[in-house]
Amino acid sequence: MDKTQDYISNKKEHFLEELMELLRIPSISADSAYSKDVRKTAEFVANKLNAAGANEVQLFETKGHPIVYGSYFVSDDLPTVLVYGHYDVQPPDPVELWDSPPFEPVIKKTDIHPDGAIFARGACDDKGQMYMHIKAFEAMHASDEVACNLKFMIEGEEEVGSENLGIFCKENAEMLACDVVLLSDTSIIANDVPSINVGLRGLSYVEIEVQGPNKDLHSGVYGGAVVNPINALTEIISGLKDEKGRISIPGFYSDVAEVSLEERKVMAEAPFDESDYMKGLGVNGLNGEEGYSTRERASIRPTLDVNGIWGGYIGEGAKTVLPSKAYAKVSMRLVPYQDPDKITVLFKNHVEANVPEGVQVTVHPHHGGHPAVTPTDTDEYRAASKAMETTYGKKPIPERGGGSIPIVALFEDVFGVKSVMMGFGLNSDDIHSPNEHYGLFNYYKGIETIPYFFKYYADLKKS
Ligand code: BES
Ligand code: MN
Ligand code: MN
Repeated sequence: MDKTQDYISNKKEHFLEELMELLRIPSISADSAYSKDVRKTAEFVANKLNAAGANEVQLFETKGHPIVYGSYFVSDDLPTVLVYGHYDVQPPDPVELWDSPPFEPVIKKTDIHPDGAIFARGACDDKGQMYMHIKAFEAMHASDEVACNLKFMIEGEEEVGSENLGIFCKENAEMLACDVVLLSDTSIIANDVPSINVGLRGLSYVEIEVQGPNKDLHSGVYGGAVVNPINALTEIISGLKDEKGRISIPGFYSDVAEVSLEERKVMAEAPFDESDYMKGLGVNGLNGEEGYSTRERASIRPTLDVNGIWGGYIGEGAKTVLPSKAYAKVSMRLVPYQDPDKITVLFKNHVEANVPEGVQVTVHPHHGGHPAVTPTDTDEYRAASKAMETTYGKKPIPERGGGSIPIVALFEDVFGVKSVMMGFGLNSDDIHSPNEHYGLFNYYKGIETIPYFFKYYADLKKS
């Protein structure tokens, strides 16, 4: 891989400039006002994939945003790796909390990123991490060191649930056939503590609508007598967890796989400083499900969180009003073997059956996704581990993450293959938050590591 690595070190500046260009296109998949920009981003990715040497590069249309596909065949004797990533990003809101405009990338040094980090929406999730794969491929191709057959599938709807990608995979299972899926859309523990993600949580996302009086009322004239939908909503929400931090929806835990004490002990060995964690977030305490550590609560245990809540008057000054309606958006992160559709039904039935007097409650389901775990006793895990060990000089730690990538479970169902989640970002990179960033160290380290994965994977498959 010497030629590939030389190529990478000579091209670092170019690789960075191209990523900046990619980050300037606001590919916000959730907002239809940006659909032209989303398409522009897909075209940018397709062009770069083509220029890097991929064949059959094309955009596949869907009911939503297009999917970028490309392939590179080397030999029937080699395994085929499907590289997955997403070019869409989360909305940048609240924009006023950014120190620089979200789609005008800038490079700044931070304590954690002394070599500099690139600040922009999508820098880490997932444009920066996805683009590493295209640049790694460019380097391997230019050096004649492509060690596996490759297929690229880069979607534009990950941040809105990947529904159309699911359909696309089912309809094109033959074209997409592969031995393993490789993606970089997760994190490592720290720049000097490499890790490989071996678990994702599932997701059930719902919206609660509370209807009170048929119009907004004067909170003096009617307050105290008419049930206030916001007050009722807070009652509903506070009733969803008990004093032990457990979710009180009947049946919620029935399918939860308890992780063995042995596995929990191994997990606890990974370095983690709780006071640094709190300091980084500006909180003076932590709380969650009794009997589990902070990291366990954020990875191997299910959750229920309000993601947004609104109703009544939220403008400047004080307006005395008893609102007619109140709303909340709630996410439940799920673990094996919870089923998102089943959990959504349990939530809906429970909330709609326990309505405070004087209001009506409706639960609207949004998208969901299944959890996924990946084993460590496979060729693909060993290849990823060895690749990271080569470039970091340290064996990576297997770690279960708290986020969700619903399509990973579907890959397993439809293609019958596991995924390797070899991400390079940090949890502190503020993905989905204002001032999202991605370390230059991480970007380059990713590009350098990926070619080794293909080499070691092909070697392992041979033997
Ligand atoms: N890349 C993230 C998921 C992630 C982040 C996994 C960090 C592990 C570590 C992905 O883009 C994401 O944000 N997924 C959404 C789910 C989707 C259905 C909107 C999530 O987890 O909220
Ligand atoms: Mn992502
Ligand atoms: Mn995301």
